[in-house]
Amino acid sequence: MAVDVLLGLQWGDEGKGKIVDVLAPKYDVIARFQGGPNAGHTLEFDGIKHVLHQIPSGIFHSSIINIIGNGVVLDPIIFKKEVEALSKYNVDINGRLFISKKASLILPSHSQLDAAYESSKGEKKIGSTLKGIGPTYQDKVARLGLRVGDILSPDFKAKYNALKEQHLKILEFYNYVHDFSEKEEAFFKAIDFLKDCQLIDSEYVINKHIKSGAKILAEGAQGSLLDIDFGSYPFVTSSNTTAAGACTGLGIAPGNIGEVYGIFKAYCTRVGSGPFPTELLEETGERLRQVGHEFGATTGRPRRCGWLDLPALKYAIMINKVTSLFMMKGDVLTDFNPLKICTSYSVDGKPTDELPHDLINSNYSPVFSDFSGWNVPINKIKTYEAFPKEVHQYISFIEKEVNVPINLISTGPDRSETVLKDFK
Ligand code: GDP
Ligand code: IMO
Ligand code: MG
Repeated sequence: MAVDVLLGLQWGDEGKGKIVDVLAPKYDVIARFQGGPNAGHTLEFDGIKHVLHQIPSGIFHSSIINIIGNGVVLDPIIFKKEVEALSKYNVDINGRLFISKKASLILPSHSQLDAAYESSKGEKKIGSTLKGIGPTYQDKVARLGLRVGDILSPDFKAKYNALKEQHLKILEFYNYVHDFSEKEEAFFKAIDFLKDCQLIDSEYVINKHIKSGAKILAEGAQGSLLDIDFGSYPFVTSSNTTAAGACTGLGIAPGNIGEVYGIFKAYCTRVGSGPFPTELLEETGERLRQVGHEFGATTGRPRRCGWLDLPALKYAIMINKVTSLFMMKGDVLTDFNPLKICTSYSVDGKPTDELPHDLINSNYSPVFSDFSGWNVPINKIKTYEAFPKEVHQYISFIEKEVNVPINLISTGPDRSETVLKDFK
């Protein structure tokens, strides 16, 4: 059976966690393919809100197998905390959560390096989550990194010390030497905890599942505009957040990819630094932030808000070959009138619907169209037909522009606040 992929099409926080949880009952396996604790995936049901960082969002369904793939960078300390938080809700990971031995390990010194690099950049900082993501992927590519499987080796401590020594030299160079011995203590406790977890050769396991006809959903983190190659570089994360990342991050051949579900908010948000063409810096942006509770699930930072950006959405759809779109947080737009959508860019005075390769230094501006807003709450609506005509107009316009159907409309954070439209 083919593997379906679910990913964010904007700058992250589109609502991936909610939708993976909603779709999970259709699947046997949910597998995370990249990113790490920089992600914050929120799920809500039975009046309780859960935030997952590294554990796949299928974990609340007892019959589903969850896999943390080789493309993920794993922080053992945060992982242990996540598992402990789950156990409070009687969610047992035994037999339900498996971790690739090839996933990269985030060391305490990686978070130090993240902070050192960020502070050295001053005004130009990325606004990273400071979870050590960039430095860990750097070590992976430099062929220096440690992987989950290494913790089983008798000389793990020696390997750890050798890498830490290298990090300390860099930290000295950056004049950023702080005591992190407490964190190291927690790290080794968490490593012992991890040793007792189910560590697997995930590429074999996943391919066996594919062969046996199991239904698999690959869960992305971040969003396409944060992709290391295609995002708003250098203001991006350090992994391939796009569909191709599911292949390399899980060991799935491209021919085994099935549906690609692309999630987008009915508007845009971004947390951290970097270009944001449709950003609203005035009262409307603040209103979106308040109504949409746009504060980061991982860092609590306020998210920057702006109108929907169609050229950026089309770009993400193209890169990922999205087969089905899910529109999130339409309920937040209630009472905003008129609504605006950026339909093209003006680059050096010429209209285009392609993004300039450099969103920082190019001479461009977004071109907007106005749409009538809806003035009624839509979170209790259960069928597509029951939405006000303005919602239909908004959705039909996007579908026509991007030429991909919107098959799911999310109208609130809870599992139940989800409307399907021609969804197979
Ligand atoms: P993720 O990182 O893509 O999983 O998204 P986050 O969890 O970081 O951010 C999405 C936020 O929006 C969370 O607080 C969700 O509970 C919330 N959310 C998801 N879908 C909807 C929706 O349709 N309407 C509203 N109002 N909130 C939503
Ligand atoms: P989810 O999976 C939103 C942003 C950071 C920063 C940039 C680089 O919840 O959608 P990093 O720590 O990765 O080096 O930071 O990427 N960022 C996210 N923004 N949602 C996320 O994940 C993010 N993960 C990283 O704010 O701008
Ligand atoms: Mg998030």
